[in-house]
Amino acid sequence: MTFRAKLFWLFTFFVVLAVGLVATGVTITTRHAFDQMDNRHTEALVAQFQREYQRRGQEVALQVRGIADGEATIRMAIELSRPNADVSIYVNDAHGVANSHQLDFLDFVNNDGSIISSADWPSRFGYKLEWVAQPEDWASRGAFLTRVDTEAGPALGLLAVATLRVGDKNLYVVGGEKLGKEFLGTLALPEGLRAVLYRNLDPNFSAVDLIDANGPFEQAERLAPLVEKERQHPVEQMMAINWSADPASAESFHVLPLKGRNGELLGVLLVGSSQRERVGVERRIILLSVGVTVLGILLGALLSWWGATRVTQPVRKLVEGAKQIAAGNLNTWVAVTSRDEIGQLALAFNQMSEQLVAQRDRIVQSERVAAWRELARRLAHELKNPLFPLQITVENLRRAREHNPEQFDEVFRESTSTLLFEIENMKAIVGRFSDFAKMPPPVLSPVHLNDVVRNVMKLYEAQFSGVGRPPITTELHLDEALPVIQADPVLLQRAIENLVLNAMDAMPGGGMLALTTSHRDASVRLEVSDSGAGLTAEECHRLFTPYYTTKQHGTGLGLAIVQSVVSDHGGTIAVDSEAGVGTTFRIDLPVSHREHHESIPPPAPETDASADSSASGIDMENTTSGTDAETPASTTDDVGAGTPAPVEEK
Ligand SMILES: Nc1ncnc2c1ncn2[C@@H]1O[C@H](COP(=O)(O)OP(=O)(O)O)[C@@H](O)[C@H]1O
Ligand SMILES: [Mg+2]
Repeated sequence: MTFRAKLFWLFTFFVVLAVGLVATGVTITTRHAFDQMDNRHTEALVAQFQREYQRRGQEVALQVRGIADGEATIRMAIELSRPNADVSIYVNDAHGVANSHQLDFLDFVNNDGSIISSADWPSRFGYKLEWVAQPEDWASRGAFLTRVDTEAGPALGLLAVATLRVGDKNLYVVGGEKLGKEFLGTLALPEGLRAVLYRNLDPNFSAVDLIDANGPFEQAERLAPLVEKERQHPVEQMMAINWSADPASAESFHVLPLKGRNGELLGVLLVGSSQRERVGVERRIILLSVGVTVLGILLGALLSWWGATRVTQPVRKLVEGAKQIAAGNLNTWVAVTSRDEIGQLALAFNQMSEQLVAQRDRIVQSERVAAWRELARRLAHELKNPLFPLQITVENLRRAREHNPEQFDEVFRESTSTLLFEIENMKAIVGRFSDFAKMPPPVLSPVHLNDVVRNVMKLYEAQFSGVGRPPITTELHLDEALPVIQADPVLLQRAIENLVLNAMDAMPGGGMLALTTSHRDASVRLEVSDSGAGLTAEECHRLFTPYYTTKQHGTGLGLAIVQSVVSDHGGTIAVDSEAGVGTTFRIDLPVSHREHHESIPPPAPETDASADSSASGIDMENTTSGTDAETPASTTDDVGAGTPAPVEEK
């Protein structure tokens, strides 16, 4: 994941988290506030209902008492207290009295409980209302809820009873109001609240008994479970109902039992409060939260883009710079655009590349000096050998001319042949130097590295187990999936031959030689390992310097040639060695290599034109090419561009 993406996700995460937390908090608080408001409203409504209920009850009780205390009623009571009084003359009295007192129900009841006159149901004359005649202090009871049978069926009434006693006989005045939609209509309801009344007059739930201020309640069946629950367990409780799948349709009901004289459940008052407003507010909060989140995410994208640009752009430049340096382009600088950590990093990077350049220059210089020294030492050493006999011979010649003129001819013949021989020697030495200087550039063609390795091994096969020398066992671990590489097969073979020759030289007492090929990505690898004497760290460092040798007849050019070939192929060579254990040379070559010859020129001396030209008259037929030889004569020969015959040290 890129830094930009990380920044974006991090920001988004925090925005969503923060907005989510705030939204949840606000929603919970709002819900709580709404719940509290609902509760207050419902409680107020319930209280209002109860006040109204009580007020009506008192009114009813007062009216009934008033009727009982009325002159006509007292007269009726006196008449009725007489034995054999005619009750039938009062049959129609109740109707008028009820109308004038605006009562829905009014019955005059005789001492034995039988109805003398009924306002709402005249034909009930004579019917017995047992409960009225029961001994009870009606005056202190006040109004109460009860079931009233009317001509139209049972109803719920708020009744009061007044007793008029004349002699030993009672006349009861039973009157009251109907508890129905008119009653509900008188309740002042706040917005979002409604009151529903269930008149519990049937043993089973009956939809027609559920009414609100407008009459029968629509969708009464939906409320049946609530009513049923209240009937089972008549206490004040809260219940909720979802009218549709929309949560805004939810309505919570405060359910209140309405009980009669004996505690029986006669009605159920349901105060419903709509959740629409609450759900609406919650929805607005969610919508707002989503809006804020989207805005936050957009802001996050913008901010992370900006942040990433500020951070990643310079870092990317640094990465590019580091890649340039890794590719060898040490003169790489990055612009320092800020004073923060990134700017300091860029500054440090520039310092580093500056130091690298300086260091590289120092190394190149000191390596060059070391190479020249080695070369000078070697050249002096090699040229000293033939120079000495040259000087002696010339001196001899001079002496013979001065002191023995008679023998001069013979001495002259001998001396010139010695001179010629030594000059030949010097020519060979110079030839070697010039050959190394003239290493040809590689001519690339598709090459199977394994084939080249097999060729070399075949060439030296005889020598590994040659007569008179301890045998060298060989091992080939060739990766058959090795890709074909672009290389010069002749130069490559020379390089490998030199490594094999060195390995053989390092194992005079016999040993093991292993050649291994492998490949990785776009490069192939060849490892040449021996179990020979090995090298110290110091020796490893000097190994590739031209003319560095530890052998009596060595040229010191073998590894220099190998390195030159490898570098001309765009590859690298490394050495791993442990004194007494063995040495491994590791060559890595790119599969395809863009030809380049920009390698540092070898510190070989400028080739003297006279040294390698046949025009100088020096015969070069003694020089043999190592690779051309059927079987190399000596392992100390380095296989070079045109390897001269070994020079015996004198
Ligand atoms: N496989 C090896 N094991 C130990 N020493 C080695 C090996 N290869 C090279 N050397 C050391 O590196 C020196 C230089 O090798 P090279 O350049 O081939 O020149 P030469 O073989 O003529 O000495 C050798 O003289 C030897 O000391
Ligand atoms: Mg060698």
